[in-house]
Amino acid sequence: MSERAHWKSRFGFVLAAAGSAVGLGNIWKFPYITGENGGGLFVLIYLVCIALVGLPIMMAEIMIGRAAQRQPVGAFAALQGQATSWSVIGWMGVFTGFVILSYYAVVAGWAMDYTLKSIVNYARPIHDQAEQEATDFRATASLDEMRDLLVNHDLSRLTQAEVNRVKTRAKPSVWKDYRRFSEAISKADNRESARARLLADPRLKSAVEQVEALQREIDEIEENSRSRLAADYQSLTEAELLKRAETLKRRQITFEKVKTAFVTTAGDGWTTLLWSLAFMLTTIVIVAGGISSGIERTCRILMPTLFVLICCMVGYGMFQPGFVQAVAFVFSPDPSKLKASGVLEALGHAFFTLSLGMGAMITYGSYQNTKRGLLGESIMIAALDTVIALLACLMIFPIIFSYGQEPSAGPGLVFMSMPLAFAEIGKGGMLLAIMFFGLLFFAALTSAISLLEVVASYFIDQQDWKRSTAAWITGGAIFLFGIPSAFAMDSGYALSGWEPSYGINFFDTMDYLASNWMLPLGGMLTAIYAGWVLPAHLRDGEVTDLPRWAIQGWVFCLRIVTPALVAVVLLQKVGILQIDELLVW
Ligand code: PHE
Repeated sequence: MSERAHWKSRFGFVLAAAGSAVGLGNIWKFPYITGENGGGLFVLIYLVCIALVGLPIMMAEIMIGRAAQRQPVGAFAALQGQATSWSVIGWMGVFTGFVILSYYAVVAGWAMDYTLKSIVNYARPIHDQAEQEATDFRATASLDEMRDLLVNHDLSRLTQAEVNRVKTRAKPSVWKDYRRFSEAISKADNRESARARLLADPRLKSAVEQVEALQREIDEIEENSRSRLAADYQSLTEAELLKRAETLKRRQITFEKVKTAFVTTAGDGWTTLLWSLAFMLTTIVIVAGGISSGIERTCRILMPTLFVLICCMVGYGMFQPGFVQAVAFVFSPDPSKLKASGVLEALGHAFFTLSLGMGAMITYGSYQNTKRGLLGESIMIAALDTVIALLACLMIFPIIFSYGQEPSAGPGLVFMSMPLAFAEIGKGGMLLAIMFFGLLFFAALTSAISLLEVVASYFIDQQDWKRSTAAWITGGAIFLFGIPSAFAMDSGYALSGWEPSYGINFFDTMDYLASNWMLPLGGMLTAIYAGWVLPAHLRDGEVTDLPRWAIQGWVFCLRIVTPALVAVVLLQKVGILQIDELLVW
C-alpha cells in the first residue's frame, strides 16, 4: 500500500474540516429553523448543544481518525486490534455519506442553477411585470379594497406571537382531538346532532371545551387588532395609502412569480438532475485530486472567499432598515415561540451542521500526522461553523425584514423569499443575488467533498483502489442513487408512488432518515465507543497536551451527557416520549 497522504498544514486541516461543517446546514437550514422556532432562545439552546454534545463528539471523531490513521471502517478495527462489532459505526458512516450526498447534490445543484439565473438576471422580467400589475391595481382598485389588503396582510404578523401563546396553553393532543372533532362536524349534514353525538365522548368534550375557550380569546385578540389596524389605515392620507397598497401588491405578485419559478425548477426533474450532475462532477474532480492538492487546496481558496462574501452581504444588511429588527430577532430570547421539540431540533441540527455522526471527521482526522492540538482545533472548527451560521442569519434576516417577508418561511426562505428581495432591490440586487447563491454553492461544495471522501476512502484504504478510480466510481454511484431525489418534486416521474404511500417524497425521506436517525445514532455510538470502549492509553496518547480536568470533563460528556441527550431525541422520534405533551411552558 502506498504511504498515507496527509494535510500540508494544521491550518489546512482546520479549513477543510470547517469546510465540511459549513454547508447548506448553516446557510439554508439554520436560518429557517431559527425562524420557525422564534429566534433568540433557540439560538441560545443551539449554542449549548454545540458545546455539550457537538464539541465532545468532534474531538472524539478526530481523535479516532488520528490514532488509527484509517478511514472509519478500518479505524475501529485498527484501534481494537481486530474487527469487532464497533466497525458497524464505520459502515453506517459510509452508508450515511452515500445517502446524504445523494440529496445534498440536488439542493447544491439548485444553488448552481440560481447562481447562473442571477447572472442572466432572471428576476428582471418578473419585477417589471409585477410593477405593471401593481400600477394597474393602484389605478383601478377601490380605497376600501386597498385598506383590506393591507389590514389582512398585517393582521397575522401582528397577532401571531400572542395567538401562539394562547394556543400553547392546550396540549398538542387536545388540538388534535379538536381537529378531529371539527373535521367530522364540517362533513355532517345535520351539525347539531353531529355535535351532540361527538360531545357524548368525554375526551372530545373536554378538548372542545378547552379549545373553544381559547378560540374566544384568539377571536378577541384578532378583532381588537383588526379594528386598530383598520383605524390606522383609515387615518392615512390617500397618497400614502396608494403608495403602501401598491408596494404590497407588487411584492405579493413578485413573490408569487419567484415562487412559481422555484416550484417549476424543483418540479423539473431533468433540469434538477442536470445541475446535480454538474455539482457531482465538480465534487468528484476535487476528491480525485487528492488530500492536499485536491481537498486542502480547494478549501484554502473557497473558505476565505465564502467568509468575505458573507461579510459583504452582512455589511449590506447593516444599512438596511430591517437590520435592528433582525438582530433583535436572532439574539433576543422569546420563550413563547419555542416548543420543547424545538430544543430537540437544535440538538439534531448540531450533528448535521458539524458533520458529526458519520465519520467525516474521523476520515479527515486520519490524514493528520500530529498528536497535539485536538481541543484547540475542535473549538476552532465548531466556532467557525457557529459564526458562519449566525452570520448567515444576519445576512438573510435584515433583507427579509426590510422587504416585508416572513422569517419563518421555511425551506423556501433561500430560494423564494431571498429572490423576491433581490428583485425588489433593483440594480444592486443582481450583484447581491450572484454573491448569495455563489456562496451557497461554495459552502455546499466543501461539504460535499467530505461526504464523498468518506465513501471513496473506504475503497482507497480498505480495498486498495486508486484514488481517482474510487472517486469516480463512488461518485457515479451516488449520482445514480440521487436520481429519485432529483425527480422527487416532479409529478409523474420516477417513483411516483413514493409520496402517496410514505406521506413524504423520496428526497424528504432520505433527509429524514439521515439527519434524524443515522447521524444521532452514529454520534451516540461514537461517543459511547470513545468514552467506554477505546483503550485509555490510546486516548491519553492523543491528548497529552491537555490538563487532567479537561480530559475528565470531556470523557464525562462522552460517557453520560451525550448518550443521554441523544437517547431523549431518539425516544421522541419513536414516539415513546412526547416532549411537547410533557412540557408546556
Ligand atoms: N455539515 C454539512 C452542512 O452543514 C453537512 C454534512 C453533514 C457534511 C455530514 C458532511 C457530513 O451542510
